[in-house]
Amino acid sequence: MRQHSNCVGEMTIIVLSLLLALCYASPRQERRFPDDFLFGAATASYQIEGGWNADGKGENIWDRMTHTNPDVIKDKSNGDKAANSYNNYARDVEMMRELGLNAYRFSISWARILPNGLANQINEPGVEFYNNYINEMLKYNITPMVTLYHWDLPQKIQDLGGFLSPLFPEWFEDYARIVFQRFGDRVKHWITFNEPCEICFEGYGSSAKAPILNATDVGTYMCAKQLVIAHARAYHAYDKDYRSDQGGVCGITISVNWYGPLTDSEEDKFAAEILRQAKWGIYAEPIFSEQGGFPKEFVERVAKNSEEQGYPRSRMPEFSPEEIELVRGSADFFGVNHYTAVLISATEHKHWFPVSSLYADADVGMYTLPEWASSASDWLTFAPNSLLNSLSHLRNKYKDAVFYITENGWSQAGAGLEDDDRISYYRSALNNVLDSLEAGIKLKGYMAWSLLDNFEWMQGYTERFGLYEVDFESSEKTRTPRKSAFIYKEIIRSRTIDPEYEPPTRTMWIDEGH
Ligand code: NOJ
Repeated sequence: MRQHSNCVGEMTIIVLSLLLALCYASPRQERRFPDDFLFGAATASYQIEGGWNADGKGENIWDRMTHTNPDVIKDKSNGDKAANSYNNYARDVEMMRELGLNAYRFSISWARILPNGLANQINEPGVEFYNNYINEMLKYNITPMVTLYHWDLPQKIQDLGGFLSPLFPEWFEDYARIVFQRFGDRVKHWITFNEPCEICFEGYGSSAKAPILNATDVGTYMCAKQLVIAHARAYHAYDKDYRSDQGGVCGITISVNWYGPLTDSEEDKFAAEILRQAKWGIYAEPIFSEQGGFPKEFVERVAKNSEEQGYPRSRMPEFSPEEIELVRGSADFFGVNHYTAVLISATEHKHWFPVSSLYADADVGMYTLPEWASSASDWLTFAPNSLLNSLSHLRNKYKDAVFYITENGWSQAGAGLEDDDRISYYRSALNNVLDSLEAGIKLKGYMAWSLLDNFEWMQGYTERFGLYEVDFESSEKTRTPRKSAFIYKEIIRSRTIDPEYEPPTRTMWIDEGH
């Protein structure tokens, strides 16, 4: 009997050891990115190009602001030269090849194509620059993803009222048509606007970006309406007149950071919803929701506040039924710029804001957990799973939407090649991408912000987001890969995330097999 039980015991141990050995011998099923998933990097014209008045380019609102009011920029710098991609574009494409990118997202400077913003005069050298850039990418199978507007409005258009002019949608459509005509034979991914909230709230409703209009009461909302209508006009122009020949897609990029409730209370949940509506819902709902128009609860909130403040009508404009129909459904994909999370409270952590303004209308408290690592940018902390939370929320709201992550990245203060913080951030975000794919979210690509260091708007060159460091002091604007560039390259090559991977050398090479 004893012998028998000994035998059973030994057998159990053998079976268990065998199982353990098997577990270690065959590594856990690796999570892989699909072969057709587009890995890329993103930039924007004013932030990298330089050549601010080269070869007939017109003045834009960032040229004007930084030249006349340099003190608004932290290091009093500007984008006059930036990384000089206007002349270094071949090196940029070489870097894309070094990384093995499938795609590259960049923007077109409106005033480089149309110097005074209006469509009567096309600047051919500007067209040629983008032709060269695009052709160089295509030579190496890199898919261009083009943003029509990344914040550098022609000054002439601003002088005529900018986004607040009733004619703005018309001018934007004219510009978009020229761009589709000139580049649409080769560009198949179009983004109309980059980050409407930052255009409208920061540029018109506060003084955080050019043209620093600071019309806190109505600036954001007037701009929001015009912007989504302009977007829809460009989308329909593409859909009607270019899509059948060119066969591309057209969407919009909205910044969707995660605003979750601080506690489980109904009040905090509602507060988080109100802030989501204020920050990105006023742009996303008109386009992606079934009913169209601005988001209901926030509209009611602004109407009530406006009445109490003595305005004869809501500070938030209305859409006509025709406008609702024009805008509703006017996107083939939802571009998501995602960086971080903030926890929202109905009662705690409130700050002062001007009485009639977007944040006063939202009237919520905002809090970030002290354990979330901080970057060089005061708004950017490393909040676990923030990307997954944002995408899951968007998918639940806009059921059939196709998504691209059009920006995601991490800043450091000044130069430095050993960027382990950025590496942790990217690995964690890309794990969220895999989680999202496994959850069935239709996510087609991921663009890291940014390919290279660049002019970080009001922060000048003090905050760096590049996979490549740029030596802004050198006349060549020398580019050097950071450690994160090697890690990203390996993720793209292997289509998996190895948390232990360390680059064997500090030399970048081009994998011709790519
Ligand atoms: C989003 C903007 O689109 C981009 O221009 C900016 O540099 C990054 N965020 C980082 O702030």
